[in-house]
This record gives sequence, C-alpha cells and structure tokens, in this order.
Amino acid sequence: MDITSQTRALGLIGHPVSHSKSPEMMNAALRSLQQPYVYLAHDVAPSVLEEVVRGFRYTMRGWNVTIPHKVAIIPFLDELDHYAQEIGAVNTVVVREGTCVGYNTDGIGYVRSLQEEVELELSQARVLIVGAGGAARAVGYALAQVGVKEISIANRTLAKAKALADHLSRFTMTQAVPLDQCRKQVENATLIVNTTSVGMFPHVDEMPISSSWISAEQIMSDLIYHPQETLLLQEAKKRGAFIHTGLGMLVHQAAVAFELWTGQQAPISLMRQILKQSLK
Ligand code: ATR
Repeated sequence: MDITSQTRALGLIGHPVSHSKSPEMMNAALRSLQQPYVYLAHDVAPSVLEEVVRGFRYTMRGWNVTIPHKVAIIPFLDELDHYAQEIGAVNTVVVREGTCVGYNTDGIGYVRSLQEEVELELSQARVLIVGAGGAARAVGYALAQVGVKEISIANRTLAKAKALADHLSRFTMTQAVPLDQCRKQVENATLIVNTTSVGMFPHVDEMPISSSWISAEQIMSDLIYHPQETLLLQEAKKRGAFIHTGLGMLVHQAAVAFELWTGQQAPISLMRQILKQSLK
C-alpha cells in the first residue's frame, strides 16, 4: 500500500534497536493485509523516554517497547491491561483517543505458540519454569491464566523463585526450588520452559539443567531463539522429548500486538517466514 496522507505510524522504541527484525516482519504483515500503517524502529535513550511518549501519543497508533524501556515506560502511560499490570512490564502500547494503554503480549504469545505447535492438554500440564526474571513472569502468568495444573519455578536465586511462586499461587498450585536441586521437578514435569539466558550466545555450550533428568514424553521449550537449536533442546531431542523453540513466541507476541493495533488477524505464517529468514 502506498504511503499517503492517510498512512499512520506504528513502531518500536528501544536502545539500541538497530538489530531488530520487527520492522521487516511488521511492515510485510501490514502490506500483505493492505493496512494503512508503517512501522519504524526508534532509538530512544532513557533520558528522553518521557518526552518521546508525550509526543507519540498525539501522532502514533501504537508502538512496541523493548529493552531498556519495558518497565521504565509504565509511569508515562495512562492505563495498563491486566497482563502488563501483573507482569510489571509493557511491550506494546495502543493509543486510543489520546489515551496510552500498555499491554504485555509476551506471555499470551508464548501460550499461543504452544497451542499452535505442541500437542498438550494445558489444563493437565505440570509445568516447570526455569528462571524467575521478567520472561518467567510473563510466561508464568499466562500459563496460570489458561489454567495449567501446577507450576514449579526453579531458579539460581531461590528468593526470586519464591516471590514468583507466591504471586502465581492465586491462580494455580505452585512451588519454588533452587536450580541445583530441581531434579524431582524436572522429572515430574510435562512441560519444561527455559526462560534463563543459559544457552544464549556466547554461553552456547551451557545447560540450565542436567540432560540426564529429561525423558521422552516430555515437552522441552526454550525461549532462546537461535537458527540452531540450543544445547538444551538438542539434548532433550536426543532423549526423545518434543522440542519447542523460541521462534513461535517471537512471532505470536508480535501477532497479538498487530491485532491490537489493526483489529485484523495477523498473517502468522508470513511473519514466521520473514523472522526465520532474517534471523539466519
Ligand atoms: P529476562 O527479562 O530475560 O527474564 P532477567 O529478568 O535478568 O531477564 O532474568 C534472568 C534469569 O536468568 C534469572 O532467573 C537469572 O537467575 P537469577 O535470578 O539467579 O539471577 C537467570 N540466569 C541468568 N544467568 C544464569 C546462569 N548463569 N545460571 C543460572 N541462571 C541464570
């Protein structure tokens, strides 16, 4: 669709943003559905975040938020949806008649990608989340919302696992364990999700949990996305487990944002194809 005086702006704010694949993915998705928007990456230093939000609310339909602004932006918004509120971080803003509403689509994106790619009765799932940071909060809250049977949280720093387990205990059965003592929880889980950065470049030869604890029938999910599978996923596959990579979450969290801005269903397979190509 040509850019005209009717075209409106969407985008991304972060610092830095030059590595982001979102503009390619979002613009292709917008073009394919003939939506009257363009999506641009904006490098916004923390010191000017407030001023940028003040201006954007008058001109933009909405924007994505990435590191380091996901928490810092909250005081400058007018409303938060319950995911953003519970997770304590915003990755998407929608402007409605000058009101800036903050959303967090990471957790919903994760659950949607599970539903698309994995055969699993979520209401019967015993989940082990490895890690207790921002990504764990997003995934944990969304899994609790869809009603998984139980959630265990294993983390190097036990106090953080406890805090997250306490937070989620309003919705489902939870427990917290230290990462080096989580063998029983790994063995008992139907779904294991790595939300830590262990396995991410340059630590590609590290594992957050021992591979000898993993068995067939389990689903191993890793939020890290490399073109190659992480060591954790490779080891899990060797042991017969079903593996779920971080690509689906990247696609679906963007798709939920797209739907909030345009009111149209996002072209998932096109977005997946573009992201996969650009992350090679
Ligand atoms: P994110 O927003 O990506 O979740 P984060 O909030 O910094 O990032 O959380 C990082 C998570 O990875 C934490 O659970 C962290 O464990 P601690 O709470 O003990 O710091 C975990 N993590 C990072 N490096 C780790 C490592 N080398 N071994 C084990 N856990 C690690």
